[in-house]
Amino acid sequence: VTATAWELAVLPEPVGTPSRPAAQQAEVVVHGPLGDRYRLLRLVAPHVAATCAPGQFVMLTAARDGEHAPVLPRPMAVYRTDRDAGTIEVCYGVVGRGTRRLASFRVGESMLVVGPLGRGFRIDRTWRSVLLVGRGIGTCSLTTVAQELDGSGVAVTTVSSARRPEALIGGSVYRAHGARAVHEVTDIDGTSAPAALHDLLVADLDAEPPAAILTCGSHRLVRLSEQLAQHWPGTDVQVSVEAHMACGLGYCHGCSSGVVGGMAEDPLVCRDGPVFGWRPRADRP
Ligand SMILES: Cc1cc2nc3c(=O)[nH]c(=O)nc-3n(C[C@H](O)[C@H](O)[C@H](O)COP(=O)(O)OP(=O)(O)OC[C@H]3O[C@@H](n4cnc5c(N)ncnc54)[C@H](O)[C@@H]3O)c2cc1C
Ligand code: FES
Repeated sequence: VTATAWELAVLPEPVGTPSRPAAQQAEVVVHGPLGDRYRLLRLVAPHVAATCAPGQFVMLTAARDGEHAPVLPRPMAVYRTDRDAGTIEVCYGVVGRGTRRLASFRVGESMLVVGPLGRGFRIDRTWRSVLLVGRGIGTCSLTTVAQELDGSGVAVTTVSSARRPEALIGGSVYRAHGARAVHEVTDIDGTSAPAALHDLLVADLDAEPPAAILTCGSHRLVRLSEQLAQHWPGTDVQVSVEAHMACGLGYCHGCSSGVVGGMAEDPLVCRDGPVFGWRPRADRP
């Protein structure tokens, strides 16, 4: 994200006992297409299912026993959890070598999962309402927020944005978890354009503005969230950031964002994020 008058800010550590990551061999129980662009993977991973907070992620190693590549695990958001069944779901797009190999895993095979990792969204159950704004695969970082807030009394409004209707994701999860409104917008019909989306959300939420806007997947949506927060003063903005990662654990510094002050390599997206605050710069009006 390019800083302008607003910038990323490291958020305070979440309250309570931090969930500790663990490594486990996770069996694939469901694996297939989701829409025409993505794939859905359900894994038996009881530790992650029981302890993962919304916005946290896992590292998946897409190498079978005895295989040497791909060496590095790939970061993936947790799309949905089922604590009772001990399973997690990951939704992913095939973009390169690692995700191509991931797509080759069949039901019954196992892969190494490390998680839950990172600091997720800071959710406050005393909020009256929250707005989730996701674009493309970035939507996968937001769905567990709706799952977590299901039945809490916090009104959840969502936006899923994509190029085409067939590439929209998240809507079914949001509806299943009682979202008050699910807006699905696309480039094809122009509804995803920031100005159109701005007008849609102002019309929908002006009567009761959200306490927070949580976003992932697009720089334009970060800017839109910033504009909405200016329109609704007091609204908190949090953004989940993507970065290339090698370890996911804070060791390699490969995910350094170097956006905020402090140590030259701070903050690390895997350790201090992936969720950051999006705030007006302290040194500008
Ligand atoms: C915290 C976090 C959560 C993520 N959650 C998901 C998810 O839920 N679903 C999903 O499909 N993807 C997710 N990603 C992105 C995913 O990790 C990458 O798409 C994946 O690592 C690509 O691996 P590859 O070997 O297939 O592609 P590579 O061969 O490594 O790269 C293929 C292309 O993708 C780009 N790319 C690779 N990694 C990233 C990255 N981290 N950010 C931006 N561009 C990248 C490369 O620059 C290249 O253009 C997440 C990333 C992070 C950091
Ligand atoms: S990925 Fe290694 S420090 Fe973040």
